[in-house]
Amino acid sequence: MTAFERRWQQFGEEVGRLFDELYPGDGAAFAYFRDMLEWNWQARKEALREVDEARLREPDWYRTNRMYGMMMYPENYGGTLQGVRERLGYLEECGINYLHLMPLLDTPEGKSDGGYAVSDFRKVRPDLGTMEDLEALADDCRDKGMVLCLDFVLNHTSEEHAWAKAARAGDPLAMGRYFLYDDWSIPNRFEQHVPQVFPTTAPGNYTWLADCGKIVMTTFYPFQWDLNYANPMVFNDMTDNLLYLANRGMDVIRLDAIPYIWKQLGTNCRNLPQVHTLTRMMKLACQVVCPGVLLLGEVVMEPREVAPYFGSQERPECDMLYNVTTMCTTWHTLATRDVRLLRHQIDQLQWLPSHTLFQNYLRCHDDIGWGLDYPWLAWFGMQEVPHKRYLNDWFTGRWDGSWSRGELYNDAEALGDARLCGTTASLSGLESALYEENEPAIRRGIDCDLMLHAWMFTQSGIPVLYSGDEIGQLNDYSYHYDPAKWSDSRYLHRGRFQWELEARRKTPGTVQQQLYDGIRTLARIRSAHEVFHSDAEVRTFDTGSDRVLGVERVYGAEVLAGLFNFSETPQELPISLPGYEDLLSGRVTEGGACTLPAYGFLWLCKRKESL
Ligand code: GLC
Repeated sequence: MTAFERRWQQFGEEVGRLFDELYPGDGAAFAYFRDMLEWNWQARKEALREVDEARLREPDWYRTNRMYGMMMYPENYGGTLQGVRERLGYLEECGINYLHLMPLLDTPEGKSDGGYAVSDFRKVRPDLGTMEDLEALADDCRDKGMVLCLDFVLNHTSEEHAWAKAARAGDPLAMGRYFLYDDWSIPNRFEQHVPQVFPTTAPGNYTWLADCGKIVMTTFYPFQWDLNYANPMVFNDMTDNLLYLANRGMDVIRLDAIPYIWKQLGTNCRNLPQVHTLTRMMKLACQVVCPGVLLLGEVVMEPREVAPYFGSQERPECDMLYNVTTMCTTWHTLATRDVRLLRHQIDQLQWLPSHTLFQNYLRCHDDIGWGLDYPWLAWFGMQEVPHKRYLNDWFTGRWDGSWSRGELYNDAEALGDARLCGTTASLSGLESALYEENEPAIRRGIDCDLMLHAWMFTQSGIPVLYSGDEIGQLNDYSYHYDPAKWSDSRYLHRGRFQWELEARRKTPGTVQQQLYDGIRTLARIRSAHEVFHSDAEVRTFDTGSDRVLGVERVYGAEVLAGLFNFSETPQELPISLPGYEDLLSGRVTEGGACTLPAYGFLWLCKRKESL
């Protein structure tokens, strides 16, 4: 019996049942699906099959405290895929062993949404290289023990994709892959219940196609046509594309905008039950063909919608999800100097099943949306719209006394729902401080930036930096002058990696050196102490100050007490933590009141027996 047959024996029944739920009685489509899995398994090269088997033997391989990631646009970092290959050394120096490459497949220039409008799922964007280059990069990463993650944009295709072009030309099979209408009656009914993703940059969920006299569903930009997953051909072919990319050597596939992939009239077309069935089926496809491959779900939704995408222990959906709620709650905490919501948030995470894992981050290539727990905040008199306005005013520097420098994103005045863009360093105050050449403010910005990173490294899961944050890259305003980018403020924090700044990290005393070495030290400590393992028990504790977050982690023989001052004033805490090793200074604490400087933090650790 082949490995494929064995796995099919194990999972085939569930695949069949779920397939039939979504596509009742379509035996031909199911037979095609099964064959498609088998030919992808046959095409999987030996080196990848070995990885699969090794990971099956050690299913927790990605849960250790040694995982440390970075996300980047390959063109910003290395120019081309070949350029990224040549620059893997710097990532290794940073300690990175998990590399997430943002979209790199073919996409029309000027109508690409940062690569999230794919015109060919099997072709690399020519200016970046070829599929062979991607495979060679994956081989290099594997040799270096670096895990590679690739974006898979599956909710929509570019209007330039062959399917979309054929649909425009009237091919009925191709038309069935999208949502096309002759008049506005159904689109208008959809619009009554479906919110907008880009209310100012791309209003509405439909686009009129003048050349063929049709209306097409476009939840995101007008050039991104939503795929119709109620058509089994779409599901079969997109899963085939996913497996094709997995077979090029990807370890992690990021499922872009996954909550949106099933549409139903009368609903908000987000997080529908069928989305979970589809995600489970994609996971099953991986379990059968490439069990070493993980799925990372991009679920940027309100807190209660996120965790269901993990599925259950027996029937997992995504292996990893973005810790979006903790990310935006962290920024809320910085602007309010009030850690209570963050405590509430962290304490809730302990109820998640043990197979779940988050990808932690301070910011990514997208905006920061204020998806906070508003019902909880309402208990403290904070209302959603005015609070969002406060956060946006603070982080754009409009609030009196704010040193943060961000820009708004999709500021639809009527909704009061704007989101935020900016690099970690600019939002932490470094941009304004450097501009003013204000030494104390520079110190404060560095401390704030490092405290935020220390907090991110304290969270369970995989910490993932955005490339350039490790050297404190500031906002890049050049997008304002680029006709293809000026309307999308997310380009503010997607600037080219500045190698000239990277060179400065070796000069003692520079901002780059302090941030780089500070973050590098944190990463080193994290990977050396098992208490940072993802399976640790985590709870928050009262530090005696609402400005200071206290988090305890317990794993194996170690206990960690982490303290984070989210305010610009020193805090004297009425708590005593004697006999701990301060992991940064190496000193042993004596007890007595504990003082944290402005934006200070402590990682205090001790052996469990000595408690
Ligand atoms: C995801 C991406 C975002 C993109 C959108 C549409 O949310 O992260 O950058 O604009 O999907 O594909």
